[in-house]
Amino acid sequence: RKDVGILAMDIYFPPSCVQQEALEAHDGASKGKYTIGLGQDCMAFCSEVEDVISMSLTVVNSLLKKYKVDPKLIGRLEVGSETVIDKSKSIKTWLMQIFEESGNTDIEGVDSSNACYGGTAALLNCVNWVESNSWDGRYGLVVCTDSAVYAEGPARPTGGAAAIAMLIGPNAPISFESKYRASHMAHVYDFYKPDLASEYPVVDGKLSQTCYLMALDSCYRQFCNKYEKIVGKQFSISDAEYFVFHSPYNKLVQKSFARLCYNDFMRNCSSIDDDAKEKLQPFSNLTGEESYQSRDLEKASQQVAKHLYDIKVQPSTLLPKQIGNMYTASLYAALASVLYNKHDSLDGQRIVMFSYGSGLTSTMFSLRLNNGQHPFSLSNIASVLGVTEKLQSRHETLPEKFIETLKLMEHRYGAKDFETNKDTSLLPPGTFYLTHVDSMYRRFYDQK
Ligand code: ACO
Repeated sequence: RKDVGILAMDIYFPPSCVQQEALEAHDGASKGKYTIGLGQDCMAFCSEVEDVISMSLTVVNSLLKKYKVDPKLIGRLEVGSETVIDKSKSIKTWLMQIFEESGNTDIEGVDSSNACYGGTAALLNCVNWVESNSWDGRYGLVVCTDSAVYAEGPARPTGGAAAIAMLIGPNAPISFESKYRASHMAHVYDFYKPDLASEYPVVDGKLSQTCYLMALDSCYRQFCNKYEKIVGKQFSISDAEYFVFHSPYNKLVQKSFARLCYNDFMRNCSSIDDDAKEKLQPFSNLTGEESYQSRDLEKASQQVAKHLYDIKVQPSTLLPKQIGNMYTASLYAALASVLYNKHDSLDGQRIVMFSYGSGLTSTMFSLRLNNGQHPFSLSNIASVLGVTEKLQSRHETLPEKFIETLKLMEHRYGAKDFETNKDTSLLPPGTFYLTHVDSMYRRFYDQK
């Protein structure tokens, strides 16, 4: 099987959003804290008629229609999510409704969950399935769906919401270089959801940042080792056109790319020029631990990385900056941003992806791009994604209204016997929405 990977992609995000600048002022944070400090522009959120199930129904339905894929041709469907609704019933089973009419019930796969990593686990499972002896010749379908909401406090501006669907098969325009794949997994309490009565996580923000960067270093080191063993030459940031990172907020992405530059400097790579070497020299003797704590190193490496960041990373930041952290969908929304921004110049290029889920699990992997053939072409994917249109048709909400919605959702979380306001005025036609939850906690959705 040649070029197994992503054939098609679609994204859905809620039309309601709040500007970070307005939220900053509302929260009494210093000016620039969310927009420059965190690097975020805007944050999407689910209104009372939307949730991870409705968003995933919407995006799967939309992908099948827009790429004209016969539902009978799906042989595996996997969902990545960390938003808990029915603790034992998977979101995947909800999506089976879309396949009912076609009579296709022969679809493997369930949900994967570990913080923001579940989507990557689902994706790797589908790619592995197509590459394996169990493959029956049909497509895999991966869905990443999450609504990220935080309790009042510094983490609240790092929320977001979206669902992404990706069709998996051979001869893909976005194919996996499966040999170059490195993971770093460990036990840490940096972000977790132990309180089942609340949708909000318990989060140690500072620890989660350090864990993320340590996982990145470890994955990159092993990724480089594997590449070097196979190809017989050193890997550096010069060997990929784009680097796409899981994006809880943009500042961490800036720090991540700077960290890769620091790694290349420490490995004496030709990607680091003399001027950069001079700036990083004072940090060459830091221990690993010290290097995570050094503010001076952070500043110097970000300065060194700035020029290449604009070329190799910035094109991936559009959707994450506009929508916020979409947990499992964040990394793939960043990939979608590159496809959208650069689709006509990606042929033959390489994208390195870094997936991180607290707790912690992480993988770095490599994608190779080719223009592909309609409907599974990069230009068609870019047009289906319709990022500009979707962003422009959003509705900006005042921070007060956003907080009011969160309060209502706190009340509704895990509740039964209620009806939603069924207000679909902001939703585009075809969007699924929640109408009510009955006395047995069963949920009911309609389609606009
Ligand atoms: N203008 C410009 N920058 C500012 C301003 C201002 N007025 N005020 C603060 N800043 C900067 C700070 O210097 C800092 O930047 P730096 O890291 O480059 O120094 C940044 O804004 C953040 O401010 P802090 O005070 O360091 O952090 P804060 O207490 O606001 O918390 C955090 C930030 C930890 C990211 C919090 O939002 C959080 O816990 N988020 C959820 C956890 C998370 O996303 N972790 C990432 C990996 S795990 C995951 O994906 C869930």
